[in-house]
Amino acid sequence: MRQQRVQIKSGQIIYKYELKQTIGSGRFGDVWLAVDHTISRKIAVKILAEGVAIDERLQEARIGNHLNHANLVKMHYADVVQHNGTDLVIIAMDYHENGSILSRVNTGNFLPIPDVIRFMCDILRGLEYLHELNLYHNDIKPKNILVGASNQGVLTDYGITCHSPNGMPVQPRSAYKLHIAPEILNSNQINIQTDIYQVGLTAFRLLNGIGYIRDKFNTFGERTYNKLVKDGKLVLASDYQLFIPRNLKSVINKAIHIDPANRYQSALEMRRALERLSYPGCWTTDSCGSFIGHSRRYTYRFEEQALTAHTFEFIAFKKFEDSGRETKISAYSNKNVTRKQKEDLKRKFMQWVVTG
Ligand SMILES: Nc1ncnc2c1ncn2[C@@H]1O[C@H](COP(=O)(O)OP(=O)(O)O)[C@@H](O)[C@H]1O
Ligand SMILES: [Mg+2]
Repeated sequence: MRQQRVQIKSGQIIYKYELKQTIGSGRFGDVWLAVDHTISRKIAVKILAEGVAIDERLQEARIGNHLNHANLVKMHYADVVQHNGTDLVIIAMDYHENGSILSRVNTGNFLPIPDVIRFMCDILRGLEYLHELNLYHNDIKPKNILVGASNQGVLTDYGITCHSPNGMPVQPRSAYKLHIAPEILNSNQINIQTDIYQVGLTAFRLLNGIGYIRDKFNTFGERTYNKLVKDGKLVLASDYQLFIPRNLKSVINKAIHIDPANRYQSALEMRRALERLSYPGCWTTDSCGSFIGHSRRYTYRFEEQALTAHTFEFIAFKKFEDSGRETKISAYSNKNVTRKQKEDLKRKFMQWVVTG
């Protein structure tokens, strides 16, 4: 059943909480920045309205309050509070003022490679801990990754987390449609590798554009989308941005492999694979949406234009950070090329900036 919404205004006091402002909302309720007046402390509270049994609404806090890990949101306690004749479940957790990782994406809707690798390693650390407790998070996505006080990735939202008494696959309580893994569609079972799949897809979206997978879902519709997932055709080689290096693509493709047995077998194994990757440069976009490359000493950009209907020009530039002097990079520039040659030059240049 879908959760009902509760009408709350900023400044309203419910129980011991003064509700300051909404900081998020999801399928299951709204999250508010609140002040807990008993201890005079800012806290994030998730308010779950009626529509689902109280016991089920408390499940998330029952899981979350046992977790002590820098990469997992800490839930402190939960209360069942009468409000306007209904029972609200209010879950209190640490407030992370930086919000979700979505606030970090650039004008191109993606994050630079080093940030994605770092955030994913953090989340995988949290997952290692969860998996040791035989918990499958089951809802890993950019919106559920918060940015902690030390800039670390913090996984939140245990709303559909599942416990497996013996570490075997279990039936999920629910599933996020965009990150639905092939095994859920095939046998309605999840395990550690389902979380690995979701980390892989999250990384893909963070690297290539947050909206990319959602656009596919909206374009194809759920049935065709699910078929792509089942056939292992959701993410194609051509879906990656030009500058993503081969070995990073390999890690993601392995994480989202159609067959769970071919994915990383543990969060630790996937983290080690990511930690082995290190690149001297990266790309992001500037305030106008243009690509801009960075390495230790230079920034990079390029210009491309059509000279005639069939001929194109591509010019690559590098600028010394120290002097601000910009020069053309002849090896990656050409004036009279076909569209395909121009794209090849661009890919080679962009990859070179990343891999050196
Ligand atoms: N502890 C927190 N501190 C700051 N923001 C949070 C916190 N928990 C959740 N949020 C924000 O609220 C949003 C919704 O919370 P979430 O627990 O994911 O709810 P739902 O289960 O409805 O998806 C998150 O995506 C995040 O942006
Ligand atoms: Mg959520």
